[in-house]
Amino acid sequence: MNTEIANNDATATQKKRRVLTGITTTGTPHLGNYVGAIRPAIDASRDANVDSFYFLADYHALIKCQDPELVRRSGKEIAATWMALGLDTDAATFYRQSDVPEITELTWILTCVTAKGLMNRAHAYKDAAKKNSDAGEDPDLAITMGLFSYPILMAADILTFNAHKVPVGRDQTQHLEMARDIAQRFNHIYGEAFVLPEAVINDNVAVLGGLDGRKMSKSYGNTIPLFSTEKELQKLINKVKTNLLEPGQPKDPADSTVFQIWQAFATPEQTQYMREQFAAGIAWGQAKKELFSLINNEVSSARSRYNELLDNPDHIEATLKKGALKARNEAASLLAKVRRAVGIAPIT
Ligand code: TRP
Repeated sequence: MNTEIANNDATATQKKRRVLTGITTTGTPHLGNYVGAIRPAIDASRDANVDSFYFLADYHALIKCQDPELVRRSGKEIAATWMALGLDTDAATFYRQSDVPEITELTWILTCVTAKGLMNRAHAYKDAAKKNSDAGEDPDLAITMGLFSYPILMAADILTFNAHKVPVGRDQTQHLEMARDIAQRFNHIYGEAFVLPEAVINDNVAVLGGLDGRKMSKSYGNTIPLFSTEKELQKLINKVKTNLLEPGQPKDPADSTVFQIWQAFATPEQTQYMREQFAAGIAWGQAKKELFSLINNEVSSARSRYNELLDNPDHIEATLKKGALKARNEAASLLAKVRRAVGIAPIT
């Protein structure tokens, strides 16, 4: 065991709880992302006891998307979104994964302690392989090594900064277990270097329904972009699926996407108000009009800032570069320790 690392427990110097999460840069943020991930993350970053690390997972984007223009645009839009919504980029560390080469360096070192069998069990890979087999194809058809070893990159994202808590969607819990496994394996071979991270699944945040009532998701093509223009927002809200009940007929909030989206933006009093309107048979058109106003009130000032930011990409870039500097500061000392631990270090 390498005691040098063991004595230098990374947690000892961290008084604040470190919370880290990544956002894959494919696609444009929508209301579901906002309610489910962005809004709670920005709220959490205001807690003085929390040290937040939020980053654009652009290397992850390459696994899913080989359209450079889309990856470029998405990175810019996602950065502008977080900034426009008021993330305090001085308090939080906000950076782009590809600006921190230590992450990919650690990825290789972790790759060398990760069992292939562990990766074989990853849902994302298994699902892709099963789809191929079911279609009578070679199971590995079109599966890249990026998809296969993606959990190792994600582990490196987290372990580079010794994050304690990792807020993610439920679909990511297996990746967090793998990150712990990989960290444990490294610690076992080389001595304590890594904190074992924990997934934080927030069941209090709403999973929003989309236009067709299924979960709002880019893969279903049923999303409402967060910073649509007012006109688009109005138009898309009008498209949210409802039933054929007429004005005056009582409506059931429990199976209404309109109500569910309302609730995600409303105060408890406003929710109670809409519940009563449903019971009284509010017309769908009217409910949607009110829903539009509610959402628009919450997002309109951020929308203006967002558009200003997109017109001023130098400011976005400078903010990300500043974040990367902070992040690299942390990452460099961890990488130095890890390299020493594995026997890669200057000879003298
Ligand atoms: N894979 C995550 C997702 O698809 C995004 C991500 C990449 C991430 N690296 C991370 C999340 C590290 C948390 C921590 O949602």
